[in-house]
Amino acid sequence: MILIKLGGSIITNKEKSLTARKSTIDKIAKSLRKLNEPFVVVHGGGSFGHYWSVKYNMHTRPARYSQHGVAVVKNSMVSLNKIILDSFLKNRLNPYCLPPTDFMAGNRPVIKKVKEIEKIAKSNLVPVIFGDALWYGKKKSYILSGDKIMTILAKTLRPRLSIFVLNVDGVFSDFKTRNLIYEMKGQKPQVSKIAMDVTGGMRRKIEEATRISRLGLDVFFVNGNKPQRIIDAIKRKKFEGTLFRGI
Ligand code: IPE
Repeated sequence: MILIKLGGSIITNKEKSLTARKSTIDKIAKSLRKLNEPFVVVHGGGSFGHYWSVKYNMHTRPARYSQHGVAVVKNSMVSLNKIILDSFLKNRLNPYCLPPTDFMAGNRPVIKKVKEIEKIAKSNLVPVIFGDALWYGKKKSYILSGDKIMTILAKTLRPRLSIFVLNVDGVFSDFKTRNLIYEMKGQKPQVSKIAMDVTGGMRRKIEEATRISRLGLDVFFVNGNKPQRIIDAIKRKKFEGTLFRGI
């Protein structure tokens, strides 16, 4: 099984609030049709979820954030999710909308529910999960990022490959020269600081990818503007991006 995270930077225009990159989403969906093994899709918030999370000062730590904020963030994520679902449907994938409330209780995964996701994927449906504002309990809520969801799913489902689809080629050792790191082996990469992000941007992605690779699972960062690279990696043809080898 394959886990695919569609980053907010590739599915939305991070410079412009509440704008989805529909043609990019369509191109990715069309490419995913070429896969002949089960896969699960997780997507991020980009200029939908992050835009409102920043406005309402909501973060990944459970706290008593504005309830209106929770409602607005969740609503925006459902809108973005709908755009992805529509595109998948149009491209004859069988998307199965799966909000994280389906397998999370507070900030812990319900393992039985997580295992169900694999069965859904193996039945020729494509679970489409998203980062979200979640109820924690005691009037508290928190932002659960799609990157964190990747680690949660990887721990239980042990995918053959976890892919983070980005708006750049991968991880750069030097941001100015855009010198790509083909395989992460403890190098110190350079990451840009994005203002509109409450979950930690590229730094968080690298952290989660490192965590997954330490479970003995391969992780791959790839540019979603070149969707064939996703397919090549899955079909073990070639890796054009950054690989975090499972150790
Ligand atoms: C963010 O998910 C979800 C919300 C802000 C509600 P991610 O943190 O995975 O989003 P991206 O991929 O970085 O945009």
